Amino acid sequence: MIKKALWLVVVILTLCEISAYKYLVVSPIPSKSHSILGDALVEYLADAGHEVTYITAFTPEKVSPRVTIIDTSDHIRNFPIDATFNLKSFMDGTVTTNNFMTFAPLMLEISRATLGNSNVRKLLADENQRFDAVIAEWMYNEVYVGFAGVFNCPLIWFSSIEPHWMVMQLIDEIPNPAYSTDMLTADSIPPLTFRQRVVELYTQIVGRLAQTFWLSGLERDVYNEYFVPFIRDRYNTVPPFEELRYNASLMLCNSHLSMNTPIRLPANVITIGGYHIKPNIKPLPEDLQTLMDNSKDGVIYFSMGSNLRSKHFPDEVKQSLLKMFGKLKQIVLWKFEEDLPNRPNNVHIVQWAPQQSILAHKNCILFITHGGLLSTTETVHFGVPIIGIPVFADQFVNVGRAVKKGFAQRVDLSYSLAADIEKAIRNVLDNPSYTTRVKELSAIYHDRTVPPATELVHWAEQVVKTKGARHLRSPAFMMPWYQKMYLDLILVLLVVLLIFYKIIIFFIISVTKRVNFILYLHFPCNVYEYGSIIFS
Ligand SMILES: *[C@@H]1O[C@H](CO)[C@@H](O)[C@H](O)[C@H]1NC(C)=O
Repeated sequence: MIKKALWLVVVILTLCEISAYKYLVVSPIPSKSHSILGDALVEYLADAGHEVTYITAFTPEKVSPRVTIIDTSDHIRNFPIDATFNLKSFMDGTVTTNNFMTFAPLMLEISRATLGNSNVRKLLADENQRFDAVIAEWMYNEVYVGFAGVFNCPLIWFSSIEPHWMVMQLIDEIPNPAYSTDMLTADSIPPLTFRQRVVELYTQIVGRLAQTFWLSGLERDVYNEYFVPFIRDRYNTVPPFEELRYNASLMLCNSHLSMNTPIRLPANVITIGGYHIKPNIKPLPEDLQTLMDNSKDGVIYFSMGSNLRSKHFPDEVKQSLLKMFGKLKQIVLWKFEEDLPNRPNNVHIVQWAPQQSILAHKNCILFITHGGLLSTTETVHFGVPIIGIPVFADQFVNVGRAVKKGFAQRVDLSYSLAADIEKAIRNVLDNPSYTTRVKELSAIYHDRTVPPATELVHWAEQVVKTKGARHLRSPAFMMPWYQKMYLDLILVLLVVLLIFYKIIIFFIISVTKRVNFILYLHFPCNVYEYGSIIFS
């Protein structure tokens, strides 16, 4: 009996061994929300039995023994994103980040720093190191394709936002800008007006030109400097950057149809929006549980996310917010990084908020948020209407969509924030349609064939199993644009028409010459002149 059981264990272990792959996950953006996505990705792959090497700026609290961390936490010091994204500076207009031209170089600097990091260099230099696939987060440049070059394995892109034109061009083609918008264009939510369509076309053309004539060169330099020596150490040939850049096998996107624009997608774009939310929500800490259970008029939860700090609100704004919240009959739970003196009785501070557990509580009736994608996703997951105060990056798009979908009010960051929020609270709470709408979307969001995490693991495995999933590659991707637009056909037709025209002219001329000759024989001189006037 024991022998049999031992055999079974051996068999199971061997089976596990066979189907366990080695992944390299590259997600070192020094921003908490990005690391939440990276951590979840790594956790699911490790739970599925795979070995994962994880390049990250934040070491997760709990790591599976199958996970090896490559620490790039020096990014947190060198790129203090938290300090840059200061609420007061946004209110005073002293920083603007919603611009590709400032965003892209910053992201390239972070990528360069990742590749210069000594732990990462050690990994790249280790010639015994092998991976079955690389999963790299796309963040406004493509230099991480070099990892696939060094380890000679398939590449999977991970996009922390929905499939937009910049990532679609890496795997399929640029969708039509008339209905598929750039993620930094603040106000363009399809259907677009004439002006928005023109702005969108302009933005995408300028972005594309900037990539072609400016960023691509910088990226190629980074590839040559940081990857090519390691590739040369391992292999005889070095693939050009452009070849690797357009060679990804798959793209995982953190989006779902209940939230983003449902544009057509090629077979190798897999949307896994909401995968970071675990099926078992952690219970609330006891004090919060009691507070929320006993709130007979409901709880309003207020958080500006992990990058923006409420403590950076100017003092007068903090005071007016406290005063306004004090007038409400609901309990207000404010994620605030330090203690706030003179708080009204119904306002409670949490320095760190278990956001998902709060939103999951049935008494949470409204979420006041900066409109980050994780917060927006969680609010749809749990079915809570929002007041969105967008500040930077994709937050304008996220809040704009939520407003259009009918479960949000937008409030702009300004010194009259308290009064504007007060009005919005009244609108949302007095009008049941906001809650109804978000519950409907939540039902759509949950109505899937399999959970997003299952999808993620399945496709990551399929790429390895099928040696790069070439069968998923979009035919559009491998075709030059003039062929897709049939410009070559138009050229052929033009040539045919031209030849046809020449033949007809030739024919007419020879006929007239003959007619003229006959006419000349009968009526010499004057009619011949008359004819040549007509036909010449
Ligand atoms: C492109 O990807 C495929 C599949 O992963 C791989 O076989 C091929 O070697 C890659 N090409 C280059 C230039 O790396």
